[in-house]
Amino acid sequence: MPNTLLIGAQWGDEGKGKVVDVLSQDADVVVRYQGGSNAGHTIEIGRDRYVLHLVPSGILHPDKTCVIGNGLVVDPLALIQEIKDLAARGVRVDGRLHVSDRAQMVVAYHKMLDAARENRSPAGARIGTTQRGIGPAYADKAARLNLRMGDLLDGELEHSLADRVAEKNRALAELGAAPVDARQMLQDLSAAAEFLRPFIADTVTLLNEALKAGRSLLFEGAQGTMLDIDFGTYPYVTSSNPTCGGACAGSGVPARAIDRVVGVVKAYTTRVGEGPLPTELHDSVGERLRERGREFGATTGRPRRCGWFDAVVARYAAMINGVDFWAVTKLDVLDEVETIRIGVAYECDGRRYDTVPASIHLLERCRPVYEEFPGWMSATSNVTRFEDLPKQARAYVQRLCDLTGVPLGILSVGPQRASTFRIKI
Ligand code: GDP
Ligand code: IMO
Ligand code: MG
Repeated sequence: MPNTLLIGAQWGDEGKGKVVDVLSQDADVVVRYQGGSNAGHTIEIGRDRYVLHLVPSGILHPDKTCVIGNGLVVDPLALIQEIKDLAARGVRVDGRLHVSDRAQMVVAYHKMLDAARENRSPAGARIGTTQRGIGPAYADKAARLNLRMGDLLDGELEHSLADRVAEKNRALAELGAAPVDARQMLQDLSAAAEFLRPFIADTVTLLNEALKAGRSLLFEGAQGTMLDIDFGTYPYVTSSNPTCGGACAGSGVPARAIDRVVGVVKAYTTRVGEGPLPTELHDSVGERLRERGREFGATTGRPRRCGWFDAVVARYAAMINGVDFWAVTKLDVLDEVETIRIGVAYECDGRRYDTVPASIHLLERCRPVYEEFPGWMSATSNVTRFEDLPKQARAYVQRLCDLTGVPLGILSVGPQRASTFRIKI
């Protein structure tokens, strides 16, 4: 398989985990390059349902190598829990899961600061984070104050923590939050160091050697383009670059090694957390999408906000990431919707917008211009070929591709591995 980058083209939860699981069949190494345990990637195989947060979604194929790249912020305790949970279900990761020694660490005070800031902000100023410590850990990375996974192994942990904890406890006190227990932190991280020692590696060299040996890489983006810290709905974003540039920065692989980009989009739109969502539905149709699509956060369990497919967003994501093919997921969720809409442009103050404006205040006031489509009102979840879909469903997917200028590569009509079919890739 050509080296493939898979990105979310909306606000996350597009079904990336499931598509990565399917594409992993043809890859040798699956690599996460950004984010942390804010991600929740779901894979359903038969009756088994797995939700992965840090471990790449290729792990369920027993012969695949999986890499947690340098661009992530890794909570060592969450990673250990995930490895143990997988082992308890018969998924062995030893010898084939590698964590970059350059990956940044999320520790207790990051999670506490994340929670304290969110809880203290007035409703309108909240981001609605997953409270996994992502923002504070990336902030420490940029400020050159953070610990990295390799630091777990250098014997300096006690000393490294001492200065940092004092400063963080001052910040926590200012937010009215309880201090972090430094002794507990040291104890937890020392135990984590011993557990994770065999997993921590120079993944930059490992990945480049794999490339040289002709092995194929599959990059698994977390979150989505509209949550990107540069291109998303800032400040209602996450603190990393899920978009294509993040793949190089977060793995140490040269840009020219990436042969193609697959964008994952839901056949409608969801968002969890605060921030604008121009095509949001506040009515019973939105509720039906939430129920039928089981739109509840895989990490936090929060209900996801639902809306129509937004072609402005998908076009913007295709442009930024250079998307070669769409993987369209959850088409089956629209099976019983009588009239379906696609947002094709925005209107604000009498002006039409065909791309996403930078100003959050402008975007908040944008109203979508819709095209309407008759629903197909029949089940698609047993379909295995594009040609066998109802005519209206084919027309809907075709229009989605035409409006975004990207061909269809993969279509998904159910949560199972088997309900995913490839059209072009
Ligand atoms: P990710 O974060 O992009 O990996 O997506 P999530 O796992 O957070 O959310 C996607 C949800 O949709 C999961 O519960 C999947 O099992 C489910 N899912 C994926 N593809 C389909 C599909 O084609 N149809 C339906 N009904 N569910 C799907
Ligand atoms: P996957 O990989 C959906 C959202 C949060 C919040 C904002 C910032 O499963 O698609 P953070 O904790 O990152 O500081 O929160 O980003 N968010 C996600 N939404 N899917 C995700 O990941 C997300 N990861 C973060 O809800 O609005
Ligand atoms: Mg998710």
